[in-house]
Amino acid sequence: MQMIIQQEKKTTQLKKLINQPSLDFLMEAHNGLSAKIVEETGFKGIWASGLSLSASMGVRDNNEASWTQVLDVLEFMSDATTIPILLDGDTGYGNFNNVRRLVQKLEQRHIAGVCIEDKLFPKTNSYIDSTQQPLADIDEFCGKIKAAKDTQIDPDFIVVARVEAFIAGWGLDEALNRAHAYKESGADAILMHSKLENSSEIESFMKEWKNRLPVIIVPTKYYKTPVKVFKDINISTVIWANHNLRASIQAMKNISNLIYKNESIQDAENVIVPIQEVFRIQQADEYSEAEARYVPSEKNTTNAIILAAAQGNLGTLTEKTPKTLLKINNKSILETQLSMMRSLGMKDITIVRGFGKEQVSPHNTTLIDNDHHKTTCNLYSLNQAKDHIKNQTIISFGDIIFKDFVLKELLNRSGDCVIVVDSDSVKGNNTKEFIEASEKDERFKVLQKPMLKQIQRNLNENKRHGEFIGLMKVNNKGSHLLINLLKKLEKSPDFKTYHIYDILNKMSKELVIEIIYIKESWVDVNTVTDLYEASQINA
Ligand code: SPV
Ligand code: MG
Repeated sequence: MQMIIQQEKKTTQLKKLINQPSLDFLMEAHNGLSAKIVEETGFKGIWASGLSLSASMGVRDNNEASWTQVLDVLEFMSDATTIPILLDGDTGYGNFNNVRRLVQKLEQRHIAGVCIEDKLFPKTNSYIDSTQQPLADIDEFCGKIKAAKDTQIDPDFIVVARVEAFIAGWGLDEALNRAHAYKESGADAILMHSKLENSSEIESFMKEWKNRLPVIIVPTKYYKTPVKVFKDINISTVIWANHNLRASIQAMKNISNLIYKNESIQDAENVIVPIQEVFRIQQADEYSEAEARYVPSEKNTTNAIILAAAQGNLGTLTEKTPKTLLKINNKSILETQLSMMRSLGMKDITIVRGFGKEQVSPHNTTLIDNDHHKTTCNLYSLNQAKDHIKNQTIISFGDIIFKDFVLKELLNRSGDCVIVVDSDSVKGNNTKEFIEASEKDERFKVLQKPMLKQIQRNLNENKRHGEFIGLMKVNNKGSHLLINLLKKLEKSPDFKTYHIYDILNKMSKELVIEIIYIKESWVDVNTVTDLYEASQINA
């Protein structure tokens, strides 16, 4: 049975993280991107740092950015992640009333908690050596905590009271006095801050505090203290408060300098993530999938690749002319395919040409050359056109004629990969590509869902359920898989000998390849007799 994993509320996650006996960590983030990276790395929670948020907006950590501007960034961070965010809410951006409105807005954005500090608005960063670090009046600050707790609707929303007594140069007694008062006012945890380069202040506090409430610390300055010390003194949570911001400043400086100096981006490429990584983080794939589901517009129509590089073996007829240009009822095979595709709304059509390529140049198509057509097989041709494999791509051999219902049926299918198979063709020589399917063609079986098991030229006769006609479609996952396999296979020394059926066998191991069974209704033009038969199909 499939398990459905219900995501725990972000508030509940943070509440558990802070209250459980083991030491946990919050990692700083300051926008949607860094928040995503923190989550992907494995952290269980995010510290939305005031210092980092303001710096990344290009302003100072003095409440220069308004609280609603902070809220806007938080909304992106929250939408981008599933782990809880604890907001560094500075002093609460005003009095008790501002705190009430802040809590309301944070809950609406699924922010799991807020930390408010007992300084005065507008605040100054705790590490700035300023004499201007006046502390808030204790009772007034207790009122803010009560206001926050009374406002929250979700009982698991966390309010952390941050004590700045050590930062402002007051001693342990003041720190303890304040922590006690904030606990009595309903705070869920105490953040005890210190700017010493060792953890002595924190240790002295913890000794007296005796775990009355969970304690959170920010060891930016006492970074040399081993984490084991924090565990031993029963710290609940450590905040790594600004390291993504500082790392990104370093990275941006390095790359800007390099590019500035070189007046080129050539050397930059090796030291930055590939553009694909940006798309991955943005989940660009999900957009394409959704687009395929919801947009019936031209943008989402199917495109086609016609593999028309082969010379053919029809004596004088193909001596100088590639067989895709052989005329049937006054129209070449290629033109017939093109007009059928266009009449069904397909506009983006790529042709891979090879033999006699200068003769193959229909209007409004993309032309790609396989100049090794003499020594390569059709997978090599397809690989030349792999940049044209999109979300929904028809791949067609350039020497087949088929009735238009076949193409219509193929266009209607949404499977990841769908191939057309003639179930009447089970006899014959080894030039045909025979398939074994999960079930044979049964005309009157309404819910038939045949799937490809294997496709081989020399398939044992009693396994054959039909012949692949050289017409298929890939959708979404199928197109991605096809492109990825091509990228892998093209490195193989035998790549020139590979056929489409080789890659279909590989694809069938990773996804379902659906089969559309047809009978007759198509001709693979290999002989003069085939030409005559094709004229009947296309009559
Ligand atoms: C922040 O990250 O903005 C903090 C922590 O408040 S500190 O910079 O240490 O004050
Ligand atoms: Mg701050």
